[in-house]
Formats: sequence, structure tokens, C-alpha cells
Amino acid sequence: MVFRLEGKVAIITGGASGIGASTVQLFHEHGAKVVIADIQDNLGQALADKLGEDVSYFHCDVSNEEDICNLIDTTVAKYGKLDVMYNNAGICDSPSATILESTKSDLERILNVNVVGAFLGAKHAARVMVPERKGCILFTSSAAASIAGLSSHAYAVSKCGVQGLVRNLAGELGQHGIRVNCVSPYAVVTGMPMFKINVDHDPAQIEMALSGIGNLKGQVLKAEGVAKAALYLSSDEANYVSGLNLLVDGGYSVVNPGMTKFVESLANLKK
Ligand SMILES: NC(=O)c1ccc[n+]([C@@H]2O[C@H](COP(=O)([O-])OP(=O)(O)OC[C@H]3O[C@@H](n4cnc5c(N)ncnc54)[C@H](O)[C@@H]3O)[C@@H](O)[C@H]2O)c1
Repeated sequence: MVFRLEGKVAIITGGASGIGASTVQLFHEHGAKVVIADIQDNLGQALADKLGEDVSYFHCDVSNEEDICNLIDTTVAKYGKLDVMYNNAGICDSPSATILESTKSDLERILNVNVVGAFLGAKHAARVMVPERKGCILFTSSAAASIAGLSSHAYAVSKCGVQGLVRNLAGELGQHGIRVNCVSPYAVVTGMPMFKINVDHDPAQIEMALSGIGNLKGQVLKAEGVAKAALYLSSDEANYVSGLNLLVDGGYSVVNPGMTKFVESLANLKK
């Protein structure tokens, strides 16, 4: 096995659950020392305990600048450096809320975690990476920033904001040898509330339904699939990749099935 992150130190926000937790495990398997930053203390600590001494848990609300400052400073004090900052923590709201149903406080709540949290994580990672003239800053955006109708307005705005941040930071921080990228997944069954549609639903059934409306047949996107994209972007294999939005969506966002459906419907019309 090739250890792609041997000797590297990584922080993963939102690392207690879902995509973040899968990435923690994969980075650990690839030789990184990993700090899980989250607000779900029991889950985060249990994952750290399970993986052993190279993985630790740190309570951090990403929307709180003092928490982020402490997270970065504690990591550097413990491990001597920070190679990868993965700003993955995020929240969503109901995808079906219309603009008239959406409130200013909904928007602010989502932006506060998804955009302010990402901004603060990048800012304080850059504070310690710029003097070293190297590092990798990564974010989780979403396919919902590339195609309309997949999420609430607040969530779409927040993930477009993350992509704007990626591009701007790639420009500035490239001057200091730091790469900045994001991964944008299609729907994955995780701890995200929108997938807890009903406790009676089997997650495998939800996955199959999501896969059914997806573009790429014969595959199901799981958190591990997104973690592999994050691993690539964090590794030296991506050493000249910066400013990239890596869509992990099986081509969903570049295909409009409307015309195919129209052509199919023509075949069924009476001559
Ligand atoms: N699941 C999907 O379909 C999907 C699709 C595209 C993008 N995403 C994005 O992927 C990322 C991970 O989400 P997930 O699907 O793994 O969901 P998840 O709910 O399983 O994980 C999100 C994690 O973020 C943590 N978190 C939330 N608010 C926080 C805060 N203020 N400070 C620190 N941690 C906080 C949660 O405790 C949780 O552990 C999010 O940014 C989400 O928007 C998810």
C-alpha cells in the first residue's frame, strides 16, 4: 500500500460524522496525524479513541473565531506543523422551503457555519502555513452550487460562497506555495438531517433512490467516495492542483435529462 499522507498533519472540521469521519479514517490509514474538530464531542472522541494515538479530538465550533484559533494553535503546538486544513463542517435546512417560507435567520444560521466557519478555518490555517510557504486548504462545497433545485436557497448560497472563497484564496495563497481546492459531492447518506426523512426508512433504500435519480448508473456515492477525492487533493499527487472545484457527482451537474425524456416521449406518440 502507498501511504499518501505519511508524515502529514491534518485537521478535519466536521470530522465526527459522515464525510468528515470517513476522511478522518482514510487520512489515518494513509499515515497522517489527524485532528477531528467538531461539536459532537461523544462521536468525535469515540472515533479518535477507536483509531488510536495518531488521531485526536478537539471541541470546536467553526463559527467561533476563538475556537478556530485554539484549534490551529493547539494542533501546531502538539505536532509542530499543519499540512492540511479540511474545512468540511456544514449544516443544511429543508430543501423544499420556498423563498417566501425562508427566513433571514435561516439564511444567517446556514451562512454562519458553512461560510463564516470555512472563512475562519482558512484564515487561521493560512496564518501558520504562509510562514512555512506550503500547505493545503480544502473545503466541502456541493453539487447544489452547480445545479439549481437540489437544496434550499440558503444552502445553495452558502456553497456558492465556499467556491468563491476557493478561487480567491487560490489566487492569494498560491503566492505563498499554498494550494486551495474544494470537493463538491452529489447526495450522500450521512448524518445530514435531510436524509433522516423517516426513521423507518432504511439508509440503503435512500441510497438506492438517490442513485436511481443520479446520472452514473451502477454506482452509489458513499462518504468514502468523497473522502477519496479529498485524499487526492490533499496528497502530493495533486501538487500543482489549485483553485479546483472537484465535482464528485457522476456527471449529474453537466447533464440535463429533459431532452432525452422529450425524445423518448416522441417515440411513444401516436403517428
Ligand atoms: N451529505 C450530502 O449529501 C452532502 C452533499 C454535498 C455536500 N455536503 C457537505 O458535506 C459536508 C459534510 O456533511 P455530511 O454530509 O458528512 O453531514 P454530517 O451531518 O454527517 O456531518 C457534518 C458534521 O459537521 C459538524 N458540524 C456542524 N456544525 C458545526 C459547527 N458549527 N462546528 C463544528 N462542526 C460542526 C456536525 O457535528 C457533523 O459532525 C458539509 O459541508 C455538507 O454541506 C454533503
